[in-house]
Amino acid sequence: MDVGAGTHTQPHAPHATESARAPGAKKTQPMDALIIEGGRPLAGRVPISGAKNAALPVMAAALLAPGEHVLRNVPSLADTRTMARVLEKLGARVEFNDHVCRIDTTRVNSVEAPYDLVRTMRASIYVLGPLLARFAAARVSLPGGCAWGPRPVNLHLEGLNAMGAALDIDHGYIVGKSVKLAGAHIRHETVSVGATAQIMMAATLASGTTIIEGAAVEPDITELGRVLIACGARIDGLGTRTVSIHGVERLQPIDCTIIPDRIEAATFLAAAAITGGSVTIDHCDPEHIAATIDKLTEAGCDIHAGPREVTISGPVRPAALKIDTQPYPGFPTDMQAQMMALCSVADGTSIITDTIYLDRFTHVPELARLGARITLDQNTATIDGVERLQGAPVMATDIRASAALVLAALVAQGTTRISRIYHLDRGYEALDQKLAALGARIERIKE
Ligand code: EPU
Repeated sequence: MDVGAGTHTQPHAPHATESARAPGAKKTQPMDALIIEGGRPLAGRVPISGAKNAALPVMAAALLAPGEHVLRNVPSLADTRTMARVLEKLGARVEFNDHVCRIDTTRVNSVEAPYDLVRTMRASIYVLGPLLARFAAARVSLPGGCAWGPRPVNLHLEGLNAMGAALDIDHGYIVGKSVKLAGAHIRHETVSVGATAQIMMAATLASGTTIIEGAAVEPDITELGRVLIACGARIDGLGTRTVSIHGVERLQPIDCTIIPDRIEAATFLAAAAITGGSVTIDHCDPEHIAATIDKLTEAGCDIHAGPREVTISGPVRPAALKIDTQPYPGFPTDMQAQMMALCSVADGTSIITDTIYLDRFTHVPELARLGARITLDQNTATIDGVERLQGAPVMATDIRASAALVLAALVAQGTTRISRIYHLDRGYEALDQKLAALGARIERIKE
């Protein structure tokens, strides 16, 4: 079955015997730190892993169809392991073997996603829609706030309510009982990746047609839609702002390959740019990182895109930039912090506004510890580029803020110690090893 670019169906491979944790994955070490000696331009070729934000909803979508699903190119990350644990809690069997994740959802026997797991990863809430659609019931912990702000899930809940779910909040849990989902017309004034995915998954098995106006068109969402279609779902308008999902009776298990991680790819481009290095980003989709390529070109980088790779040569000193984050295909909020690191050493004054998350600036005081000159006015940062950053002890605060600190440390004079890098391990597969292979002086230590 052809499911379009980026997702390839394949015959089921023999059952893996290795089990448990993600491939090649060390158990997350909450107290690991990174020691980085700045000043080396990166050089070489780096392979990009599968996309975290595509893998997570696709893993949850496996709940919709009983049977064994095979997901290939799943990144080995704390977050994909957390989603595996959530699915196991529900009664699914999950095995990882060298980036192949097998999820058997035949014997799912619980509809409860507990707080202890959901609080460590908000995307656990993705199981809500599939549980309601397949089992007519769910009890999923509300995620709560996050390091940089409230991050509500009202659009998820309103969408499911419009479909007839009548959800209650009970002692911190979202609870739905005897739910019969029916098609609805749902309008989003704010584009939401998560709510689009949630409603799309729930609607696949609902009676009638669900229309989402103001749908997200992020590649992760389009990828989820392609996977659902390959499972037998009927979806029109994928990749546009109006998506229609016509409910079907049942879905079949899938064998698919997760698309490359666009944020990891863009982060490596920024790492090459900030160090004035020359790097080829391999196994990526250049179209998905077009907004970052445009900004880095504006900063003075020389960039050439091939069909599945991008080669970048950084300037001696980047030019200052003006960046507004926007939903895809605009500039991603998930690259805002990394670009702020770049602008910290730019020639001139840069202005970065995050229009998606107004409080996503926990990296600002940490970058300041390295000598960056940043002033924050609500959701706009003004960055006066300095000639040099200086190494210092800093603290990682979330996935992308941590990546920004790594980038800054790569050009800072002397040694930077980044604590709490479990945040980094949530979203970047072996970032330290990949950077070391490009010539960075970077070491992981236990604190
Ligand atoms: N929003 C609401 N109500 C909702 C949902 C969202 O008001 O019910 C608002 C948010 O507050 C935000 C905007 O809508 O202002 C967009 O949020 P969205 O729902 O799109 O974000 P998300 O689905 O929670 C995903 C990614 C994030 C990424 C955002 C934006 C996953 C698992 N997470 O989050 O990725 O920043 O989309 O692109 O896909 C990361 O990977 O580091 C990360 C945080």
